[in-house]
Amino acid sequence: MIDACRNSPFMRAVRREPAEHTPIWLMRQAGRYMAEYRAVRQRTPFIELCKTPGLCAEVMLTAVERLGVDAAILFSDLLLILEPMGLGLEFTPGDGPVLHNPIRQPAEVDRLRELDDCSPLHYVFEAVRQTRAGLSEPIPLIGFAGAPFTLAAYAIEGGGSRNYLHVKRLMLTDPGAWNALVARLARSVARYLIGQIEAGVQVVQLFDSWVGCLGVDDYRRFVLPHTRAVIEAVEPHAPVIHFGTGNPALLPLQREAGGQVLGADWRLPLDEAWAAVGHDRAIQGNLDPAVLLAPLGEIERRVEQVLALAGGRPGHIFNLGHGVLPQTPVEHAAALVQMVHERSGPINGKR
Ligand code: CP3
Repeated sequence: MIDACRNSPFMRAVRREPAEHTPIWLMRQAGRYMAEYRAVRQRTPFIELCKTPGLCAEVMLTAVERLGVDAAILFSDLLLILEPMGLGLEFTPGDGPVLHNPIRQPAEVDRLRELDDCSPLHYVFEAVRQTRAGLSEPIPLIGFAGAPFTLAAYAIEGGGSRNYLHVKRLMLTDPGAWNALVARLARSVARYLIGQIEAGVQVVQLFDSWVGCLGVDDYRRFVLPHTRAVIEAVEPHAPVIHFGTGNPALLPLQREAGGQVLGADWRLPLDEAWAAVGHDRAIQGNLDPAVLLAPLGEIERRVEQVLALAGGRPGHIFNLGHGVLPQTPVEHAAALVQMVHERSGPINGKR
């Protein structure tokens, strides 16, 4: 089983090896667009769902089966790590996540406690074990965490944000306090990801979902060293997919920060994104999630376009450029997976 998993199209693409087809999975593949998920959520509040390993496994295994994807991802949330670090977390219907006591002032940075011991997140590791055990096929399981910048942004803003003014103010006013905060997050995230690997995931993805609000110079100075520290700590244990969105000008620096696979959103065509990260790394992406709202013919055209830009080069993992939208028809997501399988392989670098 573990050998079969190692040789799956997904793991082969991570290592940039030839494979029988281009592997595909979707960020947020288990979510509100799926009736089975909505049925579970009707009975269970979101945080309770995340803390019930049997339900996490069920929700993800259902999605994997319904879609026929090449990888599963742990069902959890980016923000749960902030609870044992001292922030109150709530998901309010419609408004998304809220952190109740955000860190706004340099003097408050010490309120964020380093996660020396990941045992408060035991339910996440149990969800990994139960999901892994439920995957009958040799399908790899992806673990994940927020990248230090994105987690710091949530901790400082206290929720979603348009301009990230609190984050940027702290960063620019007191770089020492900023670095202390983000370094503490980086060490905590590295321990958490290694815990997920020990529990049974094959790969981990670092989500830097909000990093696109930064310019290149600020990324280099305030973010890159911290993200690099996480990836350097984790990569001896398992490959890392380094995902960011919103600003393709950051791609060369994200490559510098590390990751065997770099995630790209749709703002650059795939060939340009791959050239920007370098062909010595694998690439994941990059269909605009809104394309799944279009008729099947248009989806097909866009799939062919992305595959053509990948050029048959080993090391492409097909995905959306960001998560599946709640308005997505589930048949369109399933059809996308089938199209990628039918129209891609074999991937041997000879096209
Ligand atoms: O990909 C998967 O299917 C695995 C599960 C997963 C969730 N969140 C479940 C979820 C993953 C990998 C995440 C990561 C996550 N969480 C990110 C990074 C990915 C990204 O989208 O950039 C972020 C920024 C979060 C924080 C978060 N969680 C937000 C902003 C929201 C609210 C927005 C929304 O879509 O409702 C959530 C809630 C959330 N996380 C849901 C799911 C299925 C929806 C909860 C619900 O109402 O049922």
